[in-house]
Amino acid sequence: MKRALGFIGVFLSFLYDASAGEDILPFDCGNNSHNCKNFCHLCYEFYQGPTMDCLSGLLNLCLHTFDVEMAQNSTNWCIWGNVSGSYSNLSLCTEEISDCLLIPWPNPLVEQIFVDIHTKFFKDCPTEELSDPPPVIIFALVITPICLIPVMVSLVVLKTKNGDGST
Ligand SMILES: *[C@@H]1O[C@H](CO)[C@@H](O)[C@H](O)[C@H]1NC(C)=O
Ligand SMILES: *[C@@H]1O[C@H](CO)[C@@H](O)[C@H](O)[C@H]1NC(C)=O
Ligand SMILES: *[C@@H]1O[C@H](CO)[C@@H](O)[C@H](O)[C@H]1NC(C)=O
Ligand SMILES: *[C@@H]1O[C@H](CO)[C@@H](O)[C@H](O)[C@H]1NC(C)=O
Repeated sequence: MKRALGFIGVFLSFLYDASAGEDILPFDCGNNSHNCKNFCHLCYEFYQGPTMDCLSGLLNLCLHTFDVEMAQNSTNWCIWGNVSGSYSNLSLCTEEISDCLLIPWPNPLVEQIFVDIHTKFFKDCPTEELSDPPPVIIFALVITPICLIPVMVSLVVLKTKNGDGST
């Protein structure tokens, strides 16, 4: 009997959480966009947390948008100017969702998406620009923060040194 009551209690508290606990999440959620809460709640409901599996599922939304945009645009996909808008939208979308789940961006799942769309849409492009170097953009995005780290470290060191010198 006690057990049954305990169970009902847990059940009720779950209901309470689900209805009134709009902001109650057992994990941290990003705050960079107003969609974050929704993404995090979806992850909580279906994956019990902001897992890579959940990210993978959510990233399919971005991919779907991209597919639709590409399908609507029957222009020449091999011309960068024709696809750059959709391409950067896809990039922004993956970044937004990753940030919401507090998963570093870019990450292997995002990189895989870009490799996939290159295989799907740009494989046959005659221009070297789109067909040859896989995601040039991703490379730039990965490398920029890495290059910034030494700069920031030396800035901090310099600051510290200056502070020491003046005291
Ligand atoms: C987080 O969200 C609150 C409320 O919307 C906002 O005031 C705050 O600036 C946000 N913080 C960041 C880092 O985006
Ligand atoms: C898009 O591709 C078409 C050829 O299909 C071309 O005529 C047009 O100039 C391209 N648009 C841009 C913005 O590059
Ligand atoms: C379609 O391609 C044109 C360039 O030709 C671009 O300006 C436009 O934003 C694209 N539209 C969509 C829905 O991707
Ligand atoms: C990119 O996203 C913005 C905002 O959602 C939208 O207005 C624009 O049409 C998109 N660009 C392309 C090329 O689809």
